[in-house]
Amino acid sequence: MSSVMQKLITPMASGPAEPPRNKVTVVGVGMVGMACAVSILLRDLADELALVDVMEDKLKGEMMDLQHGSLFLKTSKIVADKDYAVTANSRIVVVTAGVRQQEGESRLNLVQRNVNIFKHIIPQIVKHSPNCTLIVVSNPVDVLTYVTWKLSGLPKHRVIGSGTNLDSARFRFLMAERLGIHATSFNGWVLGEHGDTSVPVWSGVSVAGVNLQKLNPEFGLDGDKEDWKATHKEVVDSAYEVIKLKGYTNWAIGLSVADLTESIIKNMSRIHPVSTMVKDMYGIGEEVFLSLPCVLNSNGVGSVINMTLTDAEEKDCGGGERGAGEAHTHINTPHTWENRCFLCPLSP
Ligand SMILES: *[C@@H]1O[C@H](CO)[C@@H](O)[C@H](O)[C@H]1NC(C)=O
Ligand SMILES: *[C@@H]1O[C@H](CO)[C@@H](O)[C@H](O)[C@H]1NC(C)=O
Ligand SMILES: *[C@@H]1O[C@H](CO)[C@@H](O)[C@H](O)[C@H]1NC(C)=O
Repeated sequence: MSSVMQKLITPMASGPAEPPRNKVTVVGVGMVGMACAVSILLRDLADELALVDVMEDKLKGEMMDLQHGSLFLKTSKIVADKDYAVTANSRIVVVTAGVRQQEGESRLNLVQRNVNIFKHIIPQIVKHSPNCTLIVVSNPVDVLTYVTWKLSGLPKHRVIGSGTNLDSARFRFLMAERLGIHATSFNGWVLGEHGDTSVPVWSGVSVAGVNLQKLNPEFGLDGDKEDWKATHKEVVDSAYEVIKLKGYTNWAIGLSVADLTESIIKNMSRIHPVSTMVKDMYGIGEEVFLSLPCVLNSNGVGSVINMTLTDAEEKDCGGGERGAGEAHTHINTPHTWENRCFLCPLSP
């Protein structure tokens, strides 16, 4: 007696199925990881989505919940496991894993705890997807992107930090709102280190090709009567405000990561402010990751735009003249971060 399936379906193709072409893995199914996963699903970017986490019940629950939405999605395969074998053949791996700062915990201690977690995660990812591009989201993102690059052994163009992509998005939203236009029509870049010390490039802010600093030479500077500089402070403060109000931030970072994913998967060569290895640019001598405008295509970071920064901006971005041994005011290099090297044990 043949089964319903045998009666219904006549097989045509034989042999094993082709591996996925656009598989995306999200490591960490916390609020940020799931916002990334849902944003990627809703934009139809992946033919397979894999989730990994150490919390098995939460992981299985999130997987089932997404699978039950299959009727409304166009990603036919959603898988999850704590074993990294489930991530095999990923094109892009988004890393959101890590711990958040505990009350009273130093940033240094936080970094060390996350480095220890990454030592376990990154080699497993690369083992199963040796040709993937990694997008690091966990904080402090610039330091952890460097750590990921070192641990992965991947070429530098394949390891990207979400960097100031979100800072720039917040900046463009707030500036555009002040002008009554849509964020996509406001051209402005926040570069350097993600977070409190990010650098808005006031000299390059424009709308429809009109440079705003040409309209007001004090635009973005101290003493400007219109105080446009306050908008950057608002960008910095807004992360803390959201955390104070809802406990964490997730939607905007998830949407911004999906945007990066799209440029890579679709080989679009769009330019995004993301964290990349900047040694030998702007006079930076060390191996550090900071955000610059990067052309993202199927290679990961295909190239970096050579910005025309003012001297002050260049200095704020970490470059410019710096004497040997002089304190780095705006970059946390892995070897100088709070005067301790937590990476030396990672060096091969
Ligand atoms: C990775 O890419 C190399 C070079 O393009 C290729 O030879 C190899 O088969 C790829 N490995 C996997 C697992 O896809
Ligand atoms: C990606 O785009 C570039 C430039 O348009 C092109 O040269 C390259 O062949 C494309 N790569 C793939 C894998 O399609
Ligand atoms: C980038 O631009 C700066 C300023 O215009 C210039 O001094 C520098 O040589 C350029 N770098 C490269 C690699 O072209």
